[in-house]
Amino acid sequence: MLAPCVILNNGQKMPMLGLGTWQLEPGEIEKVIELAINAGYRHFDCAFLYDNEAEIGLAIKKKIADGTVKREDLFIVTKLWCTFCVKEEVVSACKRSLQNFGLDYVDQYLIHWPVTLKNLGRPMNIKEPFIDAVSIEYDFVETWKGMEECVNLGLAKGIGISNFNSKQIEKILKAATIKPVVNQVEVTPNFNQKKLIKFCKDRGIVITAYSPFGSPSRPWAAEGDPILSLDSPELVAIGKKYVKTGAQIVLRYLIEIGVVPLPKSANEIRLVENINIFDFSLSEEDIAVLDSFNSTDGRVIDLPCLKTMPNYPFDEEF
Ligand code: A2P
Repeated sequence: MLAPCVILNNGQKMPMLGLGTWQLEPGEIEKVIELAINAGYRHFDCAFLYDNEAEIGLAIKKKIADGTVKREDLFIVTKLWCTFCVKEEVVSACKRSLQNFGLDYVDQYLIHWPVTLKNLGRPMNIKEPFIDAVSIEYDFVETWKGMEECVNLGLAKGIGISNFNSKQIEKILKAATIKPVVNQVEVTPNFNQKKLIKFCKDRGIVITAYSPFGSPSRPWAAEGDPILSLDSPELVAIGKKYVKTGAQIVLRYLIEIGVVPLPKSANEIRLVENINIFDFSLSEEDIAVLDSFNSTDGRVIDLPCLKTMPNYPFDEEF
């Protein structure tokens, strides 16, 4: 099944579901990307931090070479890591990601976090990227100027942000000559971000939703954290009505509230399952049941290690 597209504020068409690629491991990536493209995925959400741009690029090349897709059918997103947020480093960071992929442009380039970290000039510990992080007081509006340069040079078709709160978005919009097309944040039924969604929608910015299943395999999961059970009685009961799984009900709910989900799966059956959500819609009554899962404490990607750093985004209400 192919996902329908949403039109972004720069005229680009973006498929309304993408594959999350964080934690796709070396050795499985090529197969997963191939299966995903065969299943109809065209939108791939990547990041320099995930340390797998090169493998993803190789898999994409293979599917272009075998004639399954053309480059222009694909929507490739990647993200600027916090150690390259000083304006003068943004273009070279974008070029490095392009080189990793073996592509000459990405469809979307995002600032991964509004926090700037010192570039320590040595390879980052990808598994624990914040372990020796040193933050810098830096204005992300300057970073944005570097992002705009990426568009002007043809390296990125569109630019956006990730993990920005409403005040930070307002600050970017005031200074921008090119508007952000998306803000990518955590959205799940447990933390549905309705205020931020409305705020962004009113400003022509689409929300893309990472970790739509609550990132069950995040390394920092702790006892007492909110849990999204895909087998909960409510999800199973709603699923029965539509002959869909709990995972499909969650993803469809995200579509109904106006966001673009980016589920990760490395499993062929679940990859197919997750994109098979465009042949039904949820009733208002069922949406209300999922709305009732929402809690102000429902966020799981809050990165406590960033909390004391300048521009930490999650101290605001939204
Ligand atoms: P797997 O890769 O084995 O399919 P999130 O996108 O919130 O980070 O969630 C990703 C996690 O959810 C992964 O552990 C993934 O495991 C699992 N997952 C993905 N799709 C489904 C599904 N349809 N049903 C159950 N678990 C899923």
